[in-house]
Parts: sequence; C-alpha cells; structure tokens
Amino acid sequence: MINIVIFGGPGSGKGTQSAKIAKKYGLFHISTGDVLRDHIARKTDIGKVAHSYISQGMLIPDKLMIKILEDLMRSRVEETKHGVIFDGFPRTLPQAQELDMLLTTLDTRIEAVIGLEVPDDELTKRLLLRGQESGRSDDNAEAIRTRLAVYHKQTKPLMEYYKETGRYHAINGVATIDEIFDQICAVIDKANE
Ligand code: AP5
Ligand code: MG
Repeated sequence: MINIVIFGGPGSGKGTQSAKIAKKYGLFHISTGDVLRDHIARKTDIGKVAHSYISQGMLIPDKLMIKILEDLMRSRVEETKHGVIFDGFPRTLPQAQELDMLLTTLDTRIEAVIGLEVPDDELTKRLLLRGQESGRSDDNAEAIRTRLAVYHKQTKPLMEYYKETGRYHAINGVATIDEIFDQICAVIDKANE
C-alpha cells in the first residue's frame, strides 16, 4: 500500500498524471476538484456552496473540505486499500495536518509528495487553452489569476511542511506528459522499495 499526494499549481498536470499513476500502481484517485464539480452537477447542498467559491477561483473552507474528504475515505475502505493518489488535497496547512492524522487512525501514511513545478505563465497558457472547451467555471482569465494567487499564498507554503519530513519530491512539470510520468514513476518506485 502506498499513499501519494500530487502537488502543484492550477494546470500543472495533477489530474493528467494522477490518472496514469492510479492505473499503473492500482491506486484510488481522489481529485477533490472532481468531487466538488460532481456535487455542483448534482446540485447538492455541498455543490451550491462549492460553486460560489470554485467559480471565483477561491478555496472552499477547510472545515467543509476536510469533512468531505474524511467521509469519502471512510466510505471507500475497499477501493482505497491498495493506496490513494490525492490530487488537489491538501491545499492548506490545516488540511495537511488533518490528512496526516486521519491516515494515522487508518494505520497508514503519505509516503511521497510529488511536486509538479511549472511557471505561472505556462500554467496560464494551459488553462486558457483548456478554457476554450472545458466548460469549467474557473477556466477564465480572472479566475485563473485568483487561482494562481491562492496557490502561492495558501498552498505553496505546504511544500515546507512536506520537505521538513523528507517527503517532498520536486519534478520539472514542463516536459511531455510521458517524460514527466517517467520521472514520477522513478520517485514512486524508490519510495515503495
Ligand atoms: P482542482 O480541480 O484541483 O483544480 P486546479 O488545482 O486549479 O487544477 P486543474 O485541475 O485545473 O489542473 P491540474 O493540475 O489537474 O492539471 P491537468 O492535468 O488538468 O480545483 C478546482 C477548485 O476546486 C479550486 O480552485 C477550489 O475552489 C476547489 N478545491 C479543490 N480542492 C480543494 C481543496 N483541497 N480545498 C479547498 N478547495 C478545493 O492539466 C491542465 C491542462 O494542461 C490540461 O488541458 C492538460 O491537457 C494540459 N497538460 C497536462 N500536462 C501537460 C504537459 N506536460 N504539457 C502541456 N500541457 C499539459
Ligand atoms: Mg485537476
């Protein structure tokens, strides 16, 4: 069993690489963005709250996000038994601390954090390009600016939290999808030894 966090700015390739990692290593892929967008599509109470934050590029409140994640983990014990790839969670220090505590109660831990490092101008270019077709409420110039600012202010500091415990592995996220995946696999294989 191996649990991994994929970490990086908006558009850094977290979703793209997580799908490949999940397939190769048999991990359960949890994208909190996808979970929230599913709530929005189903017009649930959570979806109504989430929409107002997501469409502006802001994070939804920690308390709500942590509850959603915990409920999901506790209800998917069978699917998560070979490990999880966490995509888009944690995004704040309280979320990272809660995740470590939750995994301890489940008798497991985060072995590696894969940081996809991509400059802001490249992230903006990718998201604007995707925005031409994605239909995502946050793939527009204004929300992208906010997503980047939120990433630098609230999420990037988490790198230190994971570096301090020797779990952060930087990957150059500007390369082809396959080249990046090869680098990620090397990190996972080493963590799994
Ligand atoms: P979330 O869904 O997590 O979005 P994000 O972090 O903004 O990132 P994206 O999903 O847009 O990009 P990605 O890194 O997955 O890259 P992708 O593979 O898609 O979160 C959305 C919102 O939900 C948040 O803003 C917040 O409101 C809320 N939320 C979610 N989690 C939360 C949490 N924990 N706490 C609070 N709020 C939360 O790739 C992007 C594009 O680039 C694609 O078009 C892809 O084809 C392309 N691409 C991928 N790899 C490459 C490459 N190597 N070269 C060129 N192009 C590439
Ligand atoms: Mg994504």
